[in-house]
Amino acid sequence: MSRISLSRVFAVTCLAAGFGWSVAAAADKPTENAGPCPDCPKMKAAPKVPAEKGCCAKCQPEKAPAPKPAAEPQKGPPTGKGPGGKDEAFASDRDTFHFLLENHKEIKRTVKKLDNGVETVTESDNTEVTKKIQEHVPAMYERLKSGKGVRYWDPLFAEAFKHGKKMKLTIENTKAGVKVVETSDEADVAKIIQAHADVVSKFVEKGFEEARKEHPVPAPEKKK
Ligand code: HEM
Repeated sequence: MSRISLSRVFAVTCLAAGFGWSVAAAADKPTENAGPCPDCPKMKAAPKVPAEKGCCAKCQPEKAPAPKPAAEPQKGPPTGKGPGGKDEAFASDRDTFHFLLENHKEIKRTVKKLDNGVETVTESDNTEVTKKIQEHVPAMYERLKSGKGVRYWDPLFAEAFKHGKKMKLTIENTKAGVKVVETSDEADVAKIIQAHADVVSKFVEKGFEEARKEHPVPAPEKKK
């Protein structure tokens, strides 16, 4: 009897110990199938990675987008309009060159290329147009000297205003318009003057159609 009870006690003890171990082992297992993932509802299992990583390796929570850099401050000299340097003269200067573009068919122009620039004559038989040409040229000369440019979106004009202080302009009013001699001691600047004079001739020929286009900066002179 005592023999039987001893072996029974031993068997029961072993069973109990085995059950306890398996319960403990199950508790140590990763928490698979323990419920939906709190960060990614599509996953049926709880995350297998530490909570600080946010979620399972397959499905990291979305990171907040990096903040956009602040808008660059405007570079270069002040413009005739816009935040960099809206000036009082801009509206009237714009009205003048718009008037000239509208009435381009009434303008005649000749351009003579000089070694260091251009000599131009721009005239009209319409006295109103003559008056506007005579207003426009000294106003633009002022802008070249002050650096308060216009039309910065057009590469050639941006370049002209960059070098405005190196340009010399003599303006002579004729009966019907202006005669201009525009030169520079620097060969590259003289090329810009000539390219600009060609663009003014295109404005005269085509009006607004040409004014909507950008114009390239001429290639610099090759160094000898
Ligand atoms: C049919 C229209 C236009 C006429 C007849 C005209 C006429 C002229 C003339 C005669 C000059 C002096 C230089 C030269 O003869 O080459 C000049 C210079 C100038 N014009 Fe006009 N222009 C016109 C349109 C414009 C427009 C649309 C702009 C700008 C939005 C403009 C901006 C300038 C500037 C910045 C200068 C000085 C730059 C330089 O001479 O190098 N012009 N324009």
